[in-house]
Amino acid sequence: MKVIRTISELRSELKKRPFDALVGFVPTMGFLHAGHASLLHKAREECQIVVLSIFVNPTQFGPNEDFDKYPRNEERDLAIAKEAGADIVFFPQVEEIYPRPSKTEVIVSDITTKLCGASRPGHFAGVTLVVSKLFNIVQPDKAYFGMKDAQQVAVITQMVNDLNMPVEIVPCPILREEDGLAMSSRNVYLSSEQRNEALVLSRTLMETKQWLITDAPNLVSDIRERITNQISASPLAEIDYVEVLSYPALETVERLDDQESESLIIALAVKFGATRLIDNVIISIKGN
Ligand code: PAJ
Repeated sequence: MKVIRTISELRSELKKRPFDALVGFVPTMGFLHAGHASLLHKAREECQIVVLSIFVNPTQFGPNEDFDKYPRNEERDLAIAKEAGADIVFFPQVEEIYPRPSKTEVIVSDITTKLCGASRPGHFAGVTLVVSKLFNIVQPDKAYFGMKDAQQVAVITQMVNDLNMPVEIVPCPILREEDGLAMSSRNVYLSSEQRNEALVLSRTLMETKQWLITDAPNLVSDIRERITNQISASPLAEIDYVEVLSYPALETVERLDDQESESLIIALAVKFGATRLIDNVIISIKGN
């Protein structure tokens, strides 16, 4: 496994590959866990060269967010990357990715205004900018993204389709701890009491999915109300949003029986103390 810190070194390394070797790319912000490793495993299965990037991207953090204290551990990340089969770990510096303020914006409209886009203004503009830059640097054939950030998958897929970027976006399932908590680099911020309470998110999503199958409720307002009540019962939980939308279009849905698209997303963002956690489930409502 090669550790590369500059764009020119990465480009010359990738030039050496056989012309028919597929390059799989897993962009991350580091502090890796088994969720990130699952993306690397998938890339390893499908591609001859697997590139992992680790870059805590300043442009996707708001002024009062956790950029400065975002957890970092290079040594541990390298061990996980090696174990998961990465060939190249790309660790760019902020100064090389952003040598000057970018005058070029990459804005995906509409779907970026919902969910996390509404709570975190500017977040997705930072994500689409850095992912476009990383795609231009790495030029992967396939790029792997976790459904943990389902809105991010929708936004990046839209960007790639709209701009004819020659990369296939591969969505990968959410990896969870044994007790159901969705794995996240931010879970380390939680106290043991908060971590325990945070189980309400996955529990509520799984229970709601089951309820939709058994009771077939029709009004989305009823579904949201039930979820909101369940989460509010946890004294440490402070709800940012509870949304039920079509997926991947992220359009408002009022009734399940006049729902055009095949899938719904139930998406949650909830704060426990200063830590904001997200989780979601995708529900296929036609033919199932
Ligand atoms: P980061 O939060 O480090 O996540 C990197 C990738 O790992 C994302 O595609 C994310 O969805 C995926 N991931 C995180 N937790 C997961 C889990 N429990 N199961 C499966 N996949 C999981 O997302 C970002 O970084 C950044 O926005 C980035 C795309 C790198 C741009 O800066």
